[in-house]
Amino acid sequence: MKKYHAVMNRIYLLVIVVAIFTGCQKNSNTSPSSANSRVDGRVDSVLALMTLEEKIGQLTLFTSDYDVTGPTIRENYKDDIKAGKVGAIFNAFGADYTRKLQEIAVKETRLHIPLLFGYDVIHGHRTIFPIPLGESCSWDLNVMQQSARIAAEEASAEGLHWTFAPMCDIARDPRWGRMAEGAGEDTYLGSRIAEARVKGFQGEGIGALNSVLACVKHFAAYGAAQAGRDYHTTDMSDRVLREVYLPPYKAAIDAGAATVMTSFNELDGIPATGNKYLMTDILRKEWNFTGFVVTDYTSIMELLPHGIAEDTASAAALALEAGVDMDMQAGFYNDALEKLVKEGKLKEGLIDEAVRRILRKKFELGLFDDPYRYSNVEREKSTVMKKEFLDAARDGARKSIVLLKNEKQVLPLSKSIKRLAVIGPLADARREMIGSWSAAGDWTKAVTLLEGIKAAVTSSTQVLYARGCNINDDTTKYFAQAIQTAKQADVVVLAVGEAALMTGEAASRTALDLPGVQQKLVEEIQKTGKPMVVVLSNGRPLTINWINDNIPAIVETWFLGTQAGYAIADVLFGDYNPSGKLTVTFPRAVGQVPIHYSMKNTGRPMDANNKYTSKYLDESNEPLYPFGYGLSYTTFTYGDISLSSPQITQQDELKVTCKVTNTGKRAGEEVVQLYIHDLVGSVTRPVKELKNFQKIMLQPGESKEITFTITQHDLSFYRKDMSFGVEPGKFEVYIGGNSRDLKKAAFMLR
Ligand code: BGC
Repeated sequence: MKKYHAVMNRIYLLVIVVAIFTGCQKNSNTSPSSANSRVDGRVDSVLALMTLEEKIGQLTLFTSDYDVTGPTIRENYKDDIKAGKVGAIFNAFGADYTRKLQEIAVKETRLHIPLLFGYDVIHGHRTIFPIPLGESCSWDLNVMQQSARIAAEEASAEGLHWTFAPMCDIARDPRWGRMAEGAGEDTYLGSRIAEARVKGFQGEGIGALNSVLACVKHFAAYGAAQAGRDYHTTDMSDRVLREVYLPPYKAAIDAGAATVMTSFNELDGIPATGNKYLMTDILRKEWNFTGFVVTDYTSIMELLPHGIAEDTASAAALALEAGVDMDMQAGFYNDALEKLVKEGKLKEGLIDEAVRRILRKKFELGLFDDPYRYSNVEREKSTVMKKEFLDAARDGARKSIVLLKNEKQVLPLSKSIKRLAVIGPLADARREMIGSWSAAGDWTKAVTLLEGIKAAVTSSTQVLYARGCNINDDTTKYFAQAIQTAKQADVVVLAVGEAALMTGEAASRTALDLPGVQQKLVEEIQKTGKPMVVVLSNGRPLTINWINDNIPAIVETWFLGTQAGYAIADVLFGDYNPSGKLTVTFPRAVGQVPIHYSMKNTGRPMDANNKYTSKYLDESNEPLYPFGYGLSYTTFTYGDISLSSPQITQQDELKVTCKVTNTGKRAGEEVVQLYIHDLVGSVTRPVKELKNFQKIMLQPGESKEITFTITQHDLSFYRKDMSFGVEPGKFEVYIGGNSRDLKKAAFMLR
């Protein structure tokens, strides 16, 4: 046996030498296709040495006990590594720890194939940025690319090769807690954000020491879970799938995303993890995706309760044949594939293909050249939570804040208010600030709102504090003290919302109100008559009609990450003029859900005077705050739209121009939004579709002419016969600062 190992070691060394040598030829021919074929040659040389069991091991991803995100089925993952039964590990990070695990794979397995380390680096690794939904409200693609870049710098310095992000699921139902992890309700914006995040994670390219592989998830349509209940069934027409849900995943793949994760849900009766239409026909054949597909956590095992497979073997075969390369945590590939091949029920070639896709990424990452290259303690120390990363986190956080209301100019606050009361269960809630899915973020390092405010005011301001109540129970015993505190103050900042873990995975809600007794607390404090600002922290839209009707100033802060408190204070005191705009509609009542700006008109559009039109008896159709909405401390006005031509042909582009003026007294940023409406089609079209935007900065009194180019692609859709293209006819085009208040013009497409 020993002798065998020695021989194999030598063969392996030879392979490595050949592989490295081939890698060294880079300079002689650097075209992408020759680089690809060089990697393919190296992959094949390793594949040729592998036993069937070892191949299946490469298709297996297990969690380590370092940081677990679900039930751990196998705790003996270290033995699995030694036995060559696992090719990738997740939830393990840290230069030192990943090196130790890597040593097991490299030194103690027969073929010494290095492990791939993955982790949910969703909105920062150590330095935590705003939750993705919050960050999307910045509409600042550079900010989002940069936060993903920094996350990759930190993650890769801690031995990680792969992040399970970005989540590209369009989400239009705020009951679904995972809305927090995405970019909101809009397909166009979601696509641009998906690209930005992939570019950020993958940086200069796979193999750069500070890059990680991106993973587009959850493929597909996970965000459309029925009734907003997590993991629930998804069912939609192919048209809606392709028009609304697929484009952000596709944009991420076109931006070069290396991997894709399947979703938990079924789609049209077939769970995504066993869905060949999604994983092979669309992903690989239509979109030419060449990376590998990993399942979500135990989702091959979940093919059993879904009722689509009756045992381990049929579940494993269904997934592999659908095009799923790597099994996360179910262990079904390990348990079943070898036997299936030996019995002639499964082609080994399918396994080889999957192994190739995975090994290719390991080669591209440089792991065959140096398996420890990402596990460097010195780099880890000098990288994580650097000052410049914290500064970027603060900047991104303040840009993500949305000012929902500001009557009587309550905001910005003066820094020399005599007594300022900071009240509420989210005022000094350190743990909550970093939100859900906060990777290796250390919540003890997060800055609370109270701390941010104290750091911002001058010494002449006395800052008072009272918790008022807990986030989610029915105790009112702290109310009296909070009311007393409010009464002593000149201004009250009241911080309410959700707990971080009421959002994210497995955090669906049927109500969208403030949890616990917080609403009562707001009402009690409001009775003091003091000038008041409500600061919201939450991972989804909330139904806050009463607050909107009764409180003069409302600031939406989501969960802003490590620098949350400083960022909120920057906005409250006017050191930063808020510029965020909602990327998701705020309903007035949960019964309006799903509600989004790009609805269809129906045959009976709402008419208040006609009962038999599309509306509710007990609530308006209008949202509380529309998509794209957000205020500033200055004001912007929009001039009329001018068009380069009143009509265009199918070969033309159209230039659309609008003058935007800062009519207030402060410099400020505005997100100028462009929407279109195709009035008549062979299939009905949404009343508005976002097609472009620009975020601009204007000094007081300054005007800018903003020009957008509308392309034929912008006007295209899936027509009656499912071909993608335009149809001649009349279009309306709108420009404005949110999806409701817009200037309008019309043109013809001939
Ligand atoms: C989530 C994924 C995540 C995975 C690994 C699952 O429960 O749905 O988004 O990447 O766990 O932690």
